[in-house]
This record gives sequence, structure tokens and C-alpha cells, in this order.
Amino acid sequence: MAMKKVFVRTFGCQMNEYDSERMLALIRDEYVPCQEPKEADLILVNTCSVRRKAEEKVYGLVGRLKHLKKNRPQLIIGVCGCVAQQEGENILKRLPHVDLVLGPQAIWRLPEALARIQRGEGPVVDVSLRKEFRQPLIFPELNGTRPVKAYVTIMQGCDNFCSYCVVPYTRGREISRPPEDILAEIECLVRQGVKEVTLLGQNVNSYGRKEKNYPTFAELLREIARIPGLLRIRFTTSHPKDLDEDLMRCLAEIPQVCEHLHLPAQAGSNRILKLMNRGYTKEDYLAKVKRLREICPEIALTTDIIVGFPGEREEDFQETIQLLQEVRYDEIFSFKYSDRPLARATRFEEKVPEEEKARRLAIVHQVQEKITREINESYVGREVEVLVEGKSPGNPELWTGRTRTNHVVNFSGPAGLKGQLVHVLIEGCGQHSLRGRVRANN
Ligand code: SAH
Ligand code: SF4
Ligand code: F3S
Repeated sequence: MAMKKVFVRTFGCQMNEYDSERMLALIRDEYVPCQEPKEADLILVNTCSVRRKAEEKVYGLVGRLKHLKKNRPQLIIGVCGCVAQQEGENILKRLPHVDLVLGPQAIWRLPEALARIQRGEGPVVDVSLRKEFRQPLIFPELNGTRPVKAYVTIMQGCDNFCSYCVVPYTRGREISRPPEDILAEIECLVRQGVKEVTLLGQNVNSYGRKEKNYPTFAELLREIARIPGLLRIRFTTSHPKDLDEDLMRCLAEIPQVCEHLHLPAQAGSNRILKLMNRGYTKEDYLAKVKRLREICPEIALTTDIIVGFPGEREEDFQETIQLLQEVRYDEIFSFKYSDRPLARATRFEEKVPEEEKARRLAIVHQVQEKITREINESYVGREVEVLVEGKSPGNPELWTGRTRTNHVVNFSGPAGLKGQLVHVLIEGCGQHSLRGRVRANN
């Protein structure tokens, strides 16, 4: 029987990328991936709702797919992920050509939902939440592509309810995945050639706290580090309030755990942090950064920043700038505050005008660009360990990979380096990457 074709478009965070890979794996006996929506028998749009713009993109894209259905009535269109969870049945009202609405915790029932639609029982809306994080161990098709790196989701949901954030409503309450499932999944990935895993969760530091007899996150890292053949371990995201010394020591002591921590600060003003319900002050945050740098001097830090949160005045904003200058992050991700349905801050008054948010964002970019450049320049002349991911997309003559501190390096070297740890002498840098040449294989 000829295989049908599936087109997948993924928005949002790494968890969505992980989920999209699993969806493709779940249906791979029936569907092969294709590159163009117009060739597809099934189109899946895996959506993000974290900012308004992300949500609008989804409605734009799915809206434009309508004409495809006129010529191909058999085409199945599915909306998955966080907008699906947030909007449920409403999606069908706004986009009546959609056949399937699948929340992030329901993606495991994709084959069943497709079968129902094919039997003419559609449209199907499944946004049920699950009480435990058990899922069949299925693996994305690694043959052919043989990626060096992979994501592994270790928990889902969030209990923090930061006042601006939609995630607790779209991904449900925090649930940790059984450690034996995580280990089995990583072992299988390593057998298929993966050398580096990034463990995913909205708040990985609180892994296992709600479940009986689960290891802590630090203990889980130690167990994962025992898997032979796994060269590197990364994880994201760490909530500052739950970062403890045990985890700091893992960053310093476990050889496979890379010296990079994404530690979203969001803002530098205590008044705004309180309104955001972040659960720490600027002083708490800075004290943890100081302790972390004592325990693990090599650590590279990155962060997320929101500008223009309701009530953020010029003096609050200046404290965010001071925080950037004091911590000196390697890289930051910065966003203009955006009202989200259900999030508490949507009802806060004193909204910051759009032009003012744009002005603050531009200043944040400017300040950080200089810091990032200075940090990149400090690498020139140094020798660093790089895990080789493949050929550089911009220049197939060069290899590409990352330092332990998560900086992209493009470099020259002999053939056959993919998947190896090499030592690279850094000879130059740009705003987003380093350049160099191989000194020696490990
Ligand atoms: N769990 C992670 C990531 C959450 S979403 C954490 O706690 O940091 C990723 C980033 O999007 C957040 O860190 C925040 O900076 C940003 N973000 C979330 N909601 C937002 C909103 N309503 N407006 C603007 N940025 C937002
Ligand atoms: Fe959102 Fe806060 Fe949870 Fe992160 S910790 S997902 S920002 S509620
Ligand atoms: Fe977006 Fe959902 Fe991830 S809202 S950032 S896709 S958890």
C-alpha cells in the first residue's frame, strides 16, 4: 500500500518539538513526512500560546490551509499543542475546516483520533489532561538522519502560576515522568547514535517532588550520567527559586553535565518580581548566581527577560538593565509583555504602551549585544571542547557544534568528525557564533 504523507509545522518551545517527533513516530507505519502542505494527506500544526503573536501566527497559517481542502476533501487538518488545549472546541468555530484538536497531553491518542476521522466520526476534540506521565516508549525515526543530540521530556505542566504565563493552563499541573522510563528512553537514543540529551521540563529543578519515591533532579542526573556512550547532558528550564546547592554541584562535578544554566530572571525589580509571582527577590537571585559561580566557575548563564510588564516604571526597568550588567549573561531571550487569556496579569491595570515596550526591548538588546560580544571575544585564543553535530549549514566546508557552555562553533577539520568530541582552537567570533580549527580528537 502506498504510504500517505504528513506535513508537520511546529511552533513554540522544545517540548513541542519533542511532541512533534513523537507524533510522527506514532503514525510512521501509515504516513511519511513531506516538505509541502500541498502534497500532504495530513497536516498537523503544533501550536504555542505563550505570547499573543505566537497564537496569531497559528490562526493565520491554519486559515490559509482552507483552500487546500477544496481540492482535496480527504485532507485531514489537525491543530495540536497549547492553543489547542486553551481553545478546545472554539477552534472548530473559528476554523471549521479543522478535523482534529489535540491538546499536548492527548497526542498519544493521535492514531485513534485519525482512525475515527477516517471512519467519518470527526471532527475530534481531545484536550483531556492525564494524571500521570506514562507513555509508550516510542522513538523518532533516527535512521537516515542520525542526529547527535536529542530532547527528552522528563516532566510536564507547571505549578508556579507566574502571573503573566499561560503554560499552567495549557500544560496542566506539574507531573514528573517515571525515572525508569526516562533512563530507558535515553539508553535507546544512545544505542541509535545520540551523544547528547537535553532534559526538558518547565521547571526541572522540582523534578520528582510531588511523586512518592522518585529521585530528586540531582539524583536523576547522576543516574543518567551512568549510561555508557552518553557524552553530554543538558537541561532546561531551571526556576531560580528551586535552584539548590545539590544541583550546583552536579554542574561542577558530573563530567557529562555541561557548564551552562538557563536561569530565567524575567525582571530586576523586586516590586515587579512580586507582581509576577516569581517567588524570589533580585537579592535571592544574585546570591544564587554568586554561589553557583563559586561552586562552578566555568558556568555560562543565559536568561529570559520580559519588558513592559503591567506597572513597570522607568526605575523598575533600569533595575533589569542593572541585573544584565551585573550578571553578564552569555545570551538572553527578551520579550515584550503580552496579555494572555486566563493569566492573572491580564487583569492588572497600568499597562505599558506598545511603543514604550518596544523602546525598552531595543535598549535591552543593545546592552546585551555588547556583553555577548565581549564574552565571545574572550574565547578567541582559547581551546575548547566541542561535540561535532555535522556540517555547518552556512558553509559545508566547515563543521559545526557547541562548546560545553553552549556557544555555537563553526570550524575546519578533517573528515568524519560527526558525533565526536574534539578540541577546537578559537580564532575569531561573530555576534552569534565562534570560529576556529580542530587541534585534536579526544
Ligand atoms: N518555564 C520556563 C519557560 C516559560 S515560557 C520558565 O519558567 O522560565 C518562556 C518564556 O516566555 C518565559 O521565561 C518568559 O520570559 C516568556 N513569557 C511567558 N509568558 C509571557 C507573556 N505573557 N508575555 C511575554 N513573555 C512571556
Ligand atoms: Fe510559566 Fe512561570 Fe511556569 Fe515558567 S515557571 S512555565 S514562566 S508559570
Ligand atoms: Fe508555547 Fe506551550 Fe511551549 S505555550 S512555550 S508551546 S509549553
